[in-house]
Amino acid sequence: MKKIIIALDGHAGCGKSTTAKAVAKSLNYVFIDTGAMYRAVTYYFLENEVDFADPTEVKKALNEISLKFVFNPEKGLGEIHLNNKNVEPFIRNMDITSRVSDVAAIKEVRVFCVREQQKMGEDKGIVMDGRDIGTVVFPTAELKVFMTADVKVRAKRRLKEMESKGVNTNLSDVIADIENRDHLDSTRKESPLKKADDAVVVDTSGLTIQEQVDSILKLAKKKL
Ligand code: C5P
Repeated sequence: MKKIIIALDGHAGCGKSTTAKAVAKSLNYVFIDTGAMYRAVTYYFLENEVDFADPTEVKKALNEISLKFVFNPEKGLGEIHLNNKNVEPFIRNMDITSRVSDVAAIKEVRVFCVREQQKMGEDKGIVMDGRDIGTVVFPTAELKVFMTADVKVRAKRRLKEMESKGVNTNLSDVIADIENRDHLDSTRKESPLKKADDAVVVDTSGLTIQEQVDSILKLAKKKL
């Protein structure tokens, strides 16, 4: 069967990764969570006290970074490894979440991550979620979806997910973080978050995860 690229972009916390993971599983495709890459770079910068504002320091740091997804058979998904260390457990907390959009706005960081993402999609058969997949990483992707949802719905879902992972936070902090990231991501100079002209909009406010997955699988099957 023909293999395609599915680009899943959209606002923070509208279930992109969960949906992308399930769509990939159903089609037997590779799932790539590009947010994890920007989070891993942010983790490295904070751990190594890299001055984000200094392009020389940023370039030097990026030269020291290797990122790859390593499949975890127990979890049934790829986990992000930074310089051969699994950093999944360290990249979802509020320290990283509140800084990641600043790091993701840096041109050199985007060039670095986009190059890696394009290599990962060379053989197609991939579901990639992020902010600029349909506009910059794979502008010729066969299926582009732009996901969005009401901010309160997104925050409640995100809070539940974070609580289940033992992350200590509350609803108003999660709303503030989501609004702040959406604003930074949509207004940045480099590859701002925006809907690709040919993307299909899916509003997930009233949908269950299964309904989100089904709607995207339906769109994908038309392209196979
Ligand atoms: O998807 P997730 O919420 O984990 O993404 C974290 C952050 O990484 C986003 O808020 C955004 O700043 C950045 N990002 C990006 N481009 C992508 C994926 C994520 O700028 N393709």
